[in-house]
Amino acid sequence: MFKKIAVQGNAFYSENFDNVKYIKNGLFCIDEKGFIEDVYNKTDKNYEFVREKYLKHGKLKILSKSEVILPGFVDLHNHASQWPQAGTALDKPLEDWLGEYTFPLESKYKNLDFANEVYTDIINATLSYGTTTALYFATVDREPSVLLARLCGEIGQRGLVGKVVMDDHVANPEFCRDVSSIEAVKETEKFIEEVLKFKDTYKQKIYPVITPRFIPSCTDKCLKELGKIVNKYNIHVQTHCSESDWEHGFVKEKYGISDTEALDRFGFLTNKTILAHAPFLSDDDLKIISKRKSSIAHCPISNAYFANSVLPFKDFYTKGVNIGMATDISGGYSPSIYSAIRQSVISSRMLNEGVNPSLQFDKRGRANSAITLNNAFYSATVGGGIALDLPIGKFEKGYAFDAQIIDLTKNIPTYYPEKNETDLLHKILLLSESNNIKEVWVQGDRVK
Ligand code: GUN
Ligand code: FE
Repeated sequence: MFKKIAVQGNAFYSENFDNVKYIKNGLFCIDEKGFIEDVYNKTDKNYEFVREKYLKHGKLKILSKSEVILPGFVDLHNHASQWPQAGTALDKPLEDWLGEYTFPLESKYKNLDFANEVYTDIINATLSYGTTTALYFATVDREPSVLLARLCGEIGQRGLVGKVVMDDHVANPEFCRDVSSIEAVKETEKFIEEVLKFKDTYKQKIYPVITPRFIPSCTDKCLKELGKIVNKYNIHVQTHCSESDWEHGFVKEKYGISDTEALDRFGFLTNKTILAHAPFLSDDDLKIISKRKSSIAHCPISNAYFANSVLPFKDFYTKGVNIGMATDISGGYSPSIYSAIRQSVISSRMLNEGVNPSLQFDKRGRANSAITLNNAFYSATVGGGIALDLPIGKFEKGYAFDAQIIDLTKNIPTYYPEKNETDLLHKILLLSESNNIKEVWVQGDRVK
């Protein structure tokens, strides 16, 4: 049987940080494992021949002129367990929001029925906005964390999931913490082993992630042992880093060094490490992160509430640090990476220009800070793929076919042809909602 398929239509993807590539009426050939085998342009001499082959086997999906293909988005930081409180209490300081709202909610996942209901819902919600890969924090409890990984696999999203480590008995309430430092590490290893057992049974694969919540949640003893596990398994790591004045100051006070330096000393910084937020990095921190090839998960909506600052995205990127886009559900209220893209551009422009009108215009901002929509699109696709060390985010040979098909007849005013294709992409990025994201594909299979 002929198992491959091809999709024919107009597509965009990021060629690099600044430039977007438009493929008009391209032919995207996908192999049995869901990887892109070939991409043909209309002008390629084999185009018609290959097209006929797929057509003959009934394996050609032809998109209309009012449909456009984008790469699936990567959400690089999402607390799946906080979905029930999305949009709640964001006017509180981070430390109060954690204690009053977040920890009580996260403790409820011991109830696996509740976990099943919420996790199914957040996976479907993010998929409906074109998120084909998500890096999730679950909760401190192992069983519901394994369930989240399983559900990603079953529903068809490429999930990377962590059981959260939070063992410090002073920082965390009894109802939401690891029993002890030793247990925290043991449970993490058990979690990893359980997920590794079924990782490859899903076409898109599911990945376990080492997840110390952040330094203020964990004891030194636990962090030391966890750091050793990073080496042992060579898997992804996620944590929060220098995310607010309070958190950044806490680590400085405790160790006399920065959050980044401390995480590095414990052995957490690798090429598969994702640091959430991270606006307060010094140039020395940036050097360490770029040397280790770790990445930042940019959470622009959450940062507007909790970070007391804006991530200097352009500066950090220019200094060699890779940055992906993230929702930070529920520090950010929206499950849509489109919302994150929009806020990232808005915030960066406000950082660039400054916001206090009583200051003279040239004294208001931080120059060279504005990012473009193309930069944000890159971050949400290619940047996420680099961060996770996975072949995702582009329509090129060897990449997974993770895609969203945009219906231009809804939400997007199209009265006349745009001056250029990039103008059309920008309208899609700024105006799309889940109802015009018509189909979502992960690893060559349709999941929405
Ligand atoms: N820092 C530690 N835990 C959290 C969390 O759940 N959300 C955010 N935004 N920051 C954190
Ligand atoms: Fe977070």
